[in-house]
Amino acid sequence: MWAVAGTWPFSLEGIKLAAPGLEAGGTAEEAVITAIKLVEADACESSVGYGGMPNADGVVELDAALMDGRTMNFGAVAAVRGFRHPILIARDVMHCTPHTFLVGEGAEKFARSRGYTAENLLTEASRLNWEKERARQAAPSGHDTIGIVALDASGDLVVGTSTSGLGMKMPGRVGDSPLVGPGFYADTAVGGAAATGVGEDIMKGVLCFRAVEHMRRGLPPMEAARRSVIETHHLLLQRGHKPGNIALVCLDRHGNAGGAANHSAFSYAWASDQHAPELTKVASVVAQPASPDGKDYVIATAGGTAPRPQG
Ligand code: GLY
Repeated sequence: MWAVAGTWPFSLEGIKLAAPGLEAGGTAEEAVITAIKLVEADACESSVGYGGMPNADGVVELDAALMDGRTMNFGAVAAVRGFRHPILIARDVMHCTPHTFLVGEGAEKFARSRGYTAENLLTEASRLNWEKERARQAAPSGHDTIGIVALDASGDLVVGTSTSGLGMKMPGRVGDSPLVGPGFYADTAVGGAAATGVGEDIMKGVLCFRAVEHMRRGLPPMEAARRSVIETHHLLLQRGHKPGNIALVCLDRHGNAGGAANHSAFSYAWASDQHAPELTKVASVVAQPASPDGKDYVIATAGGTAPRPQG
């Protein structure tokens, strides 16, 4: 048995590329890396890797992480400039250092020591867009993260994330994606989760750890995702914040997938040994009239696979 799920339509091609490896008995880590690398290398994806959205100074700064739910080992990098595959640097932090998290110049020095070649990640399209955003003094925006959770035939669960984070962010700003707990979490005994959305809000709710703990208490992935989003959204409202977009995808140790968002634009891709890769748009849009501010808002969810025998 194997399964894989990822955030947004751009994860679908990565999942299609990774699925045959899982079918052939490959590892969850290989699947996560394969899927994320494809999107990082795609100049047309403006929120991840090469061609990603630059910061306020016009420089592309990337965040990424990888976590193995069997060992609980993880590697993360943040505010890395000049390397199109931060997921590989995060993987090498996990496997080849005594540490878990490297940032900025230290992460770049480590990347060079691992043989990765630095390059300019700012494409002409990204530069032109940055010029426009700068001219209109745009607030930081745009934050789609690729997050992939994979379960392999040996039962290991691995999660990875990669993003350029908010466009026009302050140099040095780090989002949720490289942070264990808010941006990603995996425990092979339970399941894994990966988030996408406004990092500053996702951090406050520690979204992915929250979802995995809901799965630990027996909730299926869709319900775990939905509760995590509602709880975080409510928490933000109660403490006087105006929640931005938050979403996540969850995969449990039985290969069931689910996702949820506090908006209706989110979709996730998934595949398993029983299902060809497909995109699932969150639906079942539910207004929550009981919100603390008395206003309705949208919580959208979707669930993946048919129930499997649990063991
Ligand atoms: N969720 C990505 C970010 O906020 O940077």
